[in-house]
Amino acid sequence: MSVLITLPADHLHRQPRPASKPTISSHTFSGRQSFAPGNTRPDNYYTEIVHTRYKMEATSAATFSIGSTTSFGPKLSLNPQSKAWGVRFNPKNSLKSLKAAMSFGFHPKAQKQNQISRKNFQPQASYKVAILGAAGGIGQPLALLIKMSPLVSALHLYDIANVKGVTADLSHCNTPSQTLDFTGASELGSCLKGVDVVVIPAGVPRKPGMTRDDLFNINANIVKSLVEAVADNCPDAFIHIISNPVNSTVPIAAEVLKKKGVYDPKKLFGVTTLDVVRANTFVAQKKNLRIIDVDVPVIGGHAGITILPLLSKTKPLVSFTDEEIQELTVRIQNAGTEVVEAKAGAGSATLSMAYAAARFVESSLRAIDGDSDVYECCFVESELTELPFFASRVKLGKKGVEAVISSDLQGLSEYEQKALEALKPELKASIDKGIAFANKQAVAT
Ligand code: LMR
Repeated sequence: MSVLITLPADHLHRQPRPASKPTISSHTFSGRQSFAPGNTRPDNYYTEIVHTRYKMEATSAATFSIGSTTSFGPKLSLNPQSKAWGVRFNPKNSLKSLKAAMSFGFHPKAQKQNQISRKNFQPQASYKVAILGAAGGIGQPLALLIKMSPLVSALHLYDIANVKGVTADLSHCNTPSQTLDFTGASELGSCLKGVDVVVIPAGVPRKPGMTRDDLFNINANIVKSLVEAVADNCPDAFIHIISNPVNSTVPIAAEVLKKKGVYDPKKLFGVTTLDVVRANTFVAQKKNLRIIDVDVPVIGGHAGITILPLLSKTKPLVSFTDEEIQELTVRIQNAGTEVVEAKAGAGSATLSMAYAAARFVESSLRAIDGDSDVYECCFVESELTELPFFASRVKLGKKGVEAVISSDLQGLSEYEQKALEALKPELKASIDKGIAFANKQAVAT
């Protein structure tokens, strides 16, 4: 369905920061003053700008940014790292965003300035996001992170129970988006009307000893009925599926959308961002690298051996011993299970999953907003291999997947090539299971 593109090697390198060091005055930063007026940019210049955007209290040093505290990031992205390759600094965008950030600062001294800024520079919030399963373990922190996005004007929170309280709580945060609650099937349609992105973390989590596939029987039905409602109410939205087993729930969603006659393969995504987030973290720790510099593409699927980190394609270029490759690969593949076991029956990853999912939402919104330089790994319909769905790095655009990055699969190490072949039968079985399930079911009209 999508165009395959091969990026030239030099596209795979980050652009250096601009050589000139802009000056900046103190009122830019409410609360914590990071450097004196008139001084040239310190090393954490862009980090500070990102933090300013999300500053929560005038007197607090609390700061927030998703993805990384990378020292460069156009548009004050929540996740500059998602643009890990081909990042281009855009001073115009940064300035625009900086001004928008200033317009909801809280420092009394900055207030006057802010009033002026508000007139001229409205926050860019204009997109609607729905979370289906918003009162759950992933849904709640995910809602909080999305509430902090400057791109979001409305956050629609849906669950079968307990969502009113979550929404009331969240609505007190003074960020631009409105929060609205929707409880139960009768309100699902209203929740979905007019939204740009739907995120689905609904379903049950694993307990120790279970695989993601053990969740199939319950979660398959949940995803099926939620996606039916998406098809009926917001067929043009980007759909982000988190509910496990992702390797099967995404094909289920595709079949449901096909039956409803509204399937757009470019807009259906299995969220595998957490695999990238974990790979980046573990590699940075192992090789003693600055976490913000590290980016590892992760391909395949989202379960066990179907998760394949391409360590040979780690940025920055880094060499691993065979033992390190084996150890890191297995750790990344089992990271979900590591959390399930540590939680000892209380569920699976919620906070890191919310963090990763928020990054993917922000990347999607940036792409919808016209940023032409957004790349993420995700599980999508694909022609990259003989499998109908496959996780790989894709370029996101206004209409969804713009291109699948085929170069990631070229020049694999022998270890990766073998692992790729080994994962295919398991991934195929999970995909087939999802398709067979969906085709056995009647679709609700
Ligand atoms: C994860 O990767 O943490 C999630 O898919 C949840 C799980 O069951 O492992």
